[in-house]
Amino acid sequence: MNQEFWDARYGEHEAVWSGRPNGALTVEASGLRPGQALDVGCGEGGDALWLAAAGWRVTATDISRVALERAAERANGADIAWVHGDLAAEPPSPRTFDLVSALYFPLPKNNPEAARGLIDSVAAGGILLYVGHDLSGFDADDHDHDWDGPDPRDYFTPADVAELLDVEWEIEVNEARPRVDTPEVSAHFVNDLVLRARRVRS
Ligand SMILES: C[S@@+](CC[C@H](N)C(=O)[O-])C[C@H]1O[C@@H](n2cnc3c(N)ncnc32)[C@H](O)[C@@H]1O
Repeated sequence: MNQEFWDARYGEHEAVWSGRPNGALTVEASGLRPGQALDVGCGEGGDALWLAAAGWRVTATDISRVALERAAERANGADIAWVHGDLAAEPPSPRTFDLVSALYFPLPKNNPEAARGLIDSVAAGGILLYVGHDLSGFDADDHDHDWDGPDPRDYFTPADVAELLDVEWEIEVNEARPRVDTPEVSAHFVNDLVLRARRVRS
């Protein structure tokens, strides 16, 4: 899934996502003290906008220029750094962010270096929030739902990411639970897998 794929996906509709922040983000980040946040695969910017409104200094990255332009337009001047980039090719700055948030981000299993780069970008004391769809019961060949993308089983799950965390990390949440405020477009995914971990030692 390269830039062409995502630009085409965003280009098909005026808005692909709901525009609202993801429920898992609002649940997990509401109690955190704001600092510097990285929203990886920010899409149309719903999460980045919510974080900025909650007092975070936000860097929001995406491989799709179409998505980033749309997000910046919607932000209406909100102080967010919108950065175009391919996380699978260029890791974010190491040990920089108090919150690294990757929600429904397609991190390819065949690129563990990218996963390590993501993990490494969390500062001492910071949080990694990695949320994916619970794929139990999901059949990529079942055409009753409108999924037309690549097989989601090819991407790192929160449990896969948890396995990469070493003794510097404390896992605070690692569970499946019902998705909060599910957007229509992904209604076939009813449960989230949520990993929230803190870098407690460095
Ligand atoms: C499923 S969407 C999720 C968007 C947003 N996080 C949300 O929950 O609404 C995945 C996003 O990741 C972006 N993306 C995919 N591969 C990427 C990569 N290698 N580097 C940066 N962004 C990427 C896509 O353009 C897309 O916006």
